[in-house]
Amino acid sequence: MGPEHSDERTDADPSSSTTVEIIRNRRSTRTGFENRGVPTDIIRAIVSCGLAAPSSKNAQPWAFHVVQSKTQLREFADLVRQAEGLEDFVPHDALTGKRGDNWESTVLESAEVLGGVSSAIFVENRVAFGGGRKALSSTTTEHIQAAILGYGLEMLGLGAAVQNMLIAAASLKIQAAFMGDILIAEEQIGERLGITGELIGVLILGFSSEQPPPRARMESGLSAVTWHT
Ligand SMILES: Cc1cc2nc3c(=O)[nH]c(=O)nc-3n(C[C@H](O)[C@H](O)[C@H](O)COP(=O)(O)O)c2cc1C
Repeated sequence: MGPEHSDERTDADPSSSTTVEIIRNRRSTRTGFENRGVPTDIIRAIVSCGLAAPSSKNAQPWAFHVVQSKTQLREFADLVRQAEGLEDFVPHDALTGKRGDNWESTVLESAEVLGGVSSAIFVENRVAFGGGRKALSSTTTEHIQAAILGYGLEMLGLGAAVQNMLIAAASLKIQAAFMGDILIAEEQIGERLGITGELIGVLILGFSSEQPPPRARMESGLSAVTWHT
């Protein structure tokens, strides 16, 4: 619906919605975390918002692993630092197999972030649609299209769960960031957490005085929005 349309079914004023404001102002925070962990009742509320996410076929492909031990998070950060292929851990082109020129590895920075917090939620894909990345990379050409479709939809549900938790954290005044770089040590971290599916990343949480300014993407990212009126 274009900007000149109005909808008589709602009298909501978009300029006064705190939820809209929280979503627009949300930023990833990576520095300045205090030593104290996030209280369990707040983490519980954040996780409950992850569980409230929509998912394809209502498969709820997620499992959340809450870690509240700074020692364990530091250990995980070390596993990430010690992993092989740090520099090459960037998106690669599916057709050529070449690493994207535009992407720099951020693995060491992400390890630093993980080692600097006292609370984190590791997100597991329970591979409800069957197999996950490993199976996907070894399946036959006959099955690949349907498998990619299922995996993509599974990921969208997981993304919704992660985003619900990021927004919940922001609304509870908890600083947070989601990090996929830790997957470089997926095997080692997964083993310690008892993961049977596959890890998709970690949501770090904490109290930090550092809050990056809003991105104002509605102004800078207008080419991403087309109004078909
Ligand atoms: C799937 C996904 C993976 C991400 N992985 C990392 C990561 O490994 N390390 C990191 O510092 N940030 C990571 N981020 C955070 C992004 O870098 C961040 O969202 C992006 O730069 C936009 O900044 P903003 O969240 O402050 O708007 C990730 C975000 C998503 C959604």
